[in-house]
Amino acid sequence: MIVTQASVERPCTHDRIRAVQWRGDLLRLLDQRKLPLTEEWIECRNADEVALAIRDLVVRGAPAIGIAAAWGVVLAAQRGDNLDNAIAELRAARPTAVNLMWALDRMRTRVRAGAGSQALANEAQKIQDEDLAANRRMGELGAALIEPGSAVLTHCNTGSLATAGYGTALGVIRAGIEQKRIARVYAGETRPWLQGARLTMWELARDGIPATLIADAAASHLMKHGEVRWVIVGADRIAANGDTANKIGTYQLAISAKHHGVKFMVVAPSSTVDMNTPDGNSIEIELRDPLELLIHNGARVVAEEAKAWNPVFDVTPHELIDAIVTERGVIGKPDAEKMRTHFGAGAH
Ligand code: MRU
Repeated sequence: MIVTQASVERPCTHDRIRAVQWRGDLLRLLDQRKLPLTEEWIECRNADEVALAIRDLVVRGAPAIGIAAAWGVVLAAQRGDNLDNAIAELRAARPTAVNLMWALDRMRTRVRAGAGSQALANEAQKIQDEDLAANRRMGELGAALIEPGSAVLTHCNTGSLATAGYGTALGVIRAGIEQKRIARVYAGETRPWLQGARLTMWELARDGIPATLIADAAASHLMKHGEVRWVIVGADRIAANGDTANKIGTYQLAISAKHHGVKFMVVAPSSTVDMNTPDGNSIEIELRDPLELLIHNGARVVAEEAKAWNPVFDVTPHELIDAIVTERGVIGKPDAEKMRTHFGAGAH
């Protein structure tokens, strides 16, 4: 894995960041562990390096890890590596975001059909391009739900850094800003990894969208004071009944939103929908190293003998969700029947 420094590409207004870049025989990843202090790029030349980058959160966000994994399969094919092993290793990198499994299933189908490395590269590029197109569509659909002049609150990072570009929840926010439906954006810091503070605030500043950071614990206080009309979040897996796994802290935002009469929107491409998972209880929640909680800025900040529990996702029950927005449309007040109508039954 090689580290380089370079500036970020600038494709268009309010959407200038591309964190996953294919370069023909290597995958460049903007190292999200280092942002916003340093913009460093990592170059992956085989599937092992891509799997490690996904595990270590160099690249993160449900759609982005699926896209990176697809390119990992291409790298393995170019090197003549065993593709079943490469796919298995990439699949095991993180458990909760189904986009990872979805992208690898797509690649495996092409492998089984006898695709060579060029055909696999075409498939990976399609996965990446489709994600960007889905995000733009969801931006339009989601923004249309928001009354002009609204303030919104988002959680984690769901933007260009987490996707092929533009973003899911952050895509709705980009579109809402363009259309002047959104007047103010609040972002929760998203402890312990600080995706909101480190990534969302950087990304929005980069794209010229003013935003205000709040401590996660300030969200209910903000909602109580009537500032926020919508909480807008992404998803890592949406189960067949509409229950939604997303970054830890999302569930409490949904509870608070319901209590304060604030609407709650989940924005995710259909690749995040898993009709084979019946409900939120069946979603595996990733537990990460407790040190993410015990250490701050490289220094231990909690008593040596203390332990910590670090689940990094939680599940919001569908009853707390006002709208699920995918590129296929808006599902108001989602439940199992509406999900089935929209996405069909699962395979088993
Ligand atoms: O642990 P992370 O940073 O990969 O978690 C990311 C999230 O929870 C996002 O909200 C989700 O993946 C949607 S990203 C478009």
